[in-house]
Parts: sequence; C-alpha cells; structure tokens
Amino acid sequence: MLYNRDLINEKILNAIEKSKDYIGLGEAAAYIPELLNVDSDNFAFSLVTTNGESFNYGDTEAVFSIQSISKVIDLIMALTDNNPSEVYAKVGSEPTKYEFNSLVPIGDTAANPFINAGAITTTSMIVGKDNDEKFERILNTYRGMAKYPDAHLMEDVFHSEMKTTDRNKAIAYYLKSKGIFDQNPEEVLELYVKACSIGTNITALATMGALLANKGYDIEDRRMLIPEPVVQLVVSQMASCGMYENSGNYLMNVGIPSKSGVSGAIVGVVPGVCGLGVYSPRLDKTGNSIRGKELFKILSQDLGLNIFV
Ligand code: DON
Repeated sequence: MLYNRDLINEKILNAIEKSKDYIGLGEAAAYIPELLNVDSDNFAFSLVTTNGESFNYGDTEAVFSIQSISKVIDLIMALTDNNPSEVYAKVGSEPTKYEFNSLVPIGDTAANPFINAGAITTTSMIVGKDNDEKFERILNTYRGMAKYPDAHLMEDVFHSEMKTTDRNKAIAYYLKSKGIFDQNPEEVLELYVKACSIGTNITALATMGALLANKGYDIEDRRMLIPEPVVQLVVSQMASCGMYENSGNYLMNVGIPSKSGVSGAIVGVVPGVCGLGVYSPRLDKTGNSIRGKELFKILSQDLGLNIFV
C-alpha cells in the first residue's frame, strides 16, 4: 500500500461512498435485545497502519460491544496462558458450515475457536483466581492491544445477553459433560459473555488489528505485546474461520483475515500493512455486517489489501 495520505483518504472516501448501496440491507441482531437499542444505520470505519497512522470516518465516537471479536482475545489469552498444543487438544482448527451457536460442530472438540463452543472452551483456559480477576485480565489485554484505556463492560448488553443465552448455556454444559473443562459451566459462560460485552470504539478495534498486522509488536511501547507464534495462529484462524460459515467465500472475495461480531463490527488484519475496523449493525443471515463486508471488499481491491494478490 505505497500511497500517500491524501490518496489513501480519497480511496477510502470513494469506497465508503460505494458501500452506501448496501445501507438498509439486513437487520441488526435481535436475539440480544439490548443490541436493538442502537441506530441500525450507524456507521464507523477506521484504518490504522502498522506505523501508527490512522484514518477515521463516520461515527467514531460510537461505543459498541465487541461481541464475537472477543473470541480473538479469548484465543490470544488461552494460547499465551497455556501451551498452544494444550489449547488445540481441546479445540479444533477447522472451519464449519454450521452457524456460530450450533451444537453440531462439537465432535470430540468444538470445530474451531471462533464459533461459540470454541470460544467457551478457550475462555475456560484463561488463567486467574476467579472470574473477576480473569475478566480484568481480558479487559486489560484489550485495552493494551487497542490502546484504548476506556474499554469497559457494557453492563446493559451483558445482562441482556445473560437473560437470553440458553443456547450458550447448553453448549457450556455439553462441553463440561465431555470433559473439555471441569469448571462450573455457569461461571465459564459468564466470563465468555462478559468478554462479548466489552465496549469499544472503531479506532480501538482497528488499532488491535494493526498490532496483529505488526506481528504483535507495539510501536508505541516498543515491545512485543503478543508473541509472534501466537499472532501467526490467531491471524490464520481469522482467515479460515473468522466469518463463520461464510469464511471461505469471504476469504475468496475479500482476502483479508477478519473477525466479525453480531453488534455489526468487523476487524481485519493485513499483515505488515494495517488493521481495519468497521461498524455497521445490519447483518446477513450468518451474523456478519453486510455493509461492513462490502466495504472491506471494495477497499481490498482499491487499496490492494488482498493478502493473496
Ligand atoms: O454468544 C453470542 O451469541 C454473542 N455474544 C456473540 C456472537 C457473535 O458475535 C457472532 N457473530 N457474528
């Protein structure tokens, strides 16, 4: 991406303009009632380069829950708190054609760390004396990666999901019954849902993407924040499994390792180049932001961000 700032800005503005064709398509997630308490047509976008330059558009003040993007943090922490081989003995690494909250892709293990069953598994491997300490660690990990000290638990979103999370409860009990973890499933579930309810803005999300694009090296503090082998595993899994049962098609069309959340956010990682974040709450039937996906596709072409070409 050897462009100057004005040219990047112009290309992004053009791409955002083109993505307006997708405004109004799809619906915001309704199964977590609190997620409907936002304007479905909210829009924010951020690109942060590995040199720390940032480009921000739309409602950059909007704070939204990261939802399944927390699965990236859960996986990073499971892999740094444990030996990666221990993690991958409890969770698979293959994409699945089933929806993110399905019980079907749990054979001996959950199919991958980015479906709910897989993230509940990785959450169970995060170290701490109790849930409070573990959640504080998760929050601080995100604050550090995203350079966003304001990251916090969105209590309303958390309580709203806890009231409606029967499917995840079934998954947590099922995993326990299979001996994948031995903690109280209710506690593991609570921690998983809390991580989903972390509030962020768009620049923070893109900044986390940029850290991963930079192999885990924090340019501000000049130190490795995440070990490179962990980054390599996490970014590969974003490429293969980050967009649920749409991951193959998305990789083929967009070519950017990404992770979505049902709040309508997507984080993208272009290794060596930049991190991307988009927020646009209307979703397709697989749970991915429609306008967000289309914007990444256009930018991938216009800024040459596809990792394969
Ligand atoms: O567990 C859930 O269902 C939500 N907290 C997160 C799901 C999610 O974000 C799926 N994403 N596209």
